[in-house]
Amino acid sequence: MELQFTIDRDLCIQCGACVDDCPFHIIELTPDFPALNPTRIHHCIQCQHCLAVCPTGALSILGRNPQDSMPLPESLPTAQQMAALIRGRRSVRHFQPEPLPPEVIASMLQTVANAPTGKNNRQCLFTVIEDPATMDLLRKATIEGLRAAVLEKRLSEGQSYFRHVVSAWDQGRDIIFRNAPHLLMVSVPQTVTTPDADMLIAMSYFELLAASMGIGTLWNAMIKWAFSEISTDLYERLGIPEDHVKGYAILFGKPAVHYHRTVQRDEAQVNRVRLT
Ligand SMILES: Cc1cc2nc3c(=O)[nH]c(=O)nc-3n(C[C@H](O)[C@H](O)[C@H](O)COP(=O)(O)O)c2cc1C
Repeated sequence: MELQFTIDRDLCIQCGACVDDCPFHIIELTPDFPALNPTRIHHCIQCQHCLAVCPTGALSILGRNPQDSMPLPESLPTAQQMAALIRGRRSVRHFQPEPLPPEVIASMLQTVANAPTGKNNRQCLFTVIEDPATMDLLRKATIEGLRAAVLEKRLSEGQSYFRHVVSAWDQGRDIIFRNAPHLLMVSVPQTVTTPDADMLIAMSYFELLAASMGIGTLWNAMIKWAFSEISTDLYERLGIPEDHVKGYAILFGKPAVHYHRTVQRDEAQVNRVRLT
């Protein structure tokens, strides 16, 4: 692995922050300047903590110029703002039909790609539907798959809610896709260390980012079950590799509903531990 590690000697103040923060002790403070320990570089997980922690922007790794990092503003959201975001986020089941600009979706996914992954493997595949015509095709293909399963009596007792999905559809109500203009599915190769967590974290970050932008989202298990249990060809049609762990779907778009206040949840169940 070529790490392209360089130190700008004019900027480096030899504080040792990069050495201390490297999780795998790959960097050493030589008598001169920080340097890679050649016997340990194969442990590097490319987290770039060394680049991020350097107070003077003297360190480059993986060919990244520290000047190109997003500056960390003084105005990170406050705890109160984060609490309002987390408490104020709602599952949206009414969407406006017009799609979001593709560049907005692209920028959201680029941000979400910064979510943590086990061993920094960054293997999340973001399968996204941007155009409403594709959403319409997917909706219809899903319903037809469910309808065939109903007619051919292939639904188990536990899958009987799909009957309601089909009969609601026939009455003009889309209770599965909620007429959303967009869909996101995150999948991760089975072979990485933590595929389920990586997928769920990415989706959670997407949901909160969307909420901060006034974009509505709906986590959707029904779509996942329809794809994995009934219309099993749809993952392939969407180009999601067979050997990936598949996540839930998230429907998203401009909301057609406005919530004026938070809901009031029960007290958190906390198991406070003090060992003696
Ligand atoms: C993993 C997961 C799967 C969900 N699946 C569905 C779904 O298939 N259909 C649906 O309408 N809502 C679904 N929801 C939304 C939940 O019903 C919703 O989060 C819950 O009722 C609380 O409402 P709130 O999100 O507005 O706080 C799902 C939520 C999660 C976290």
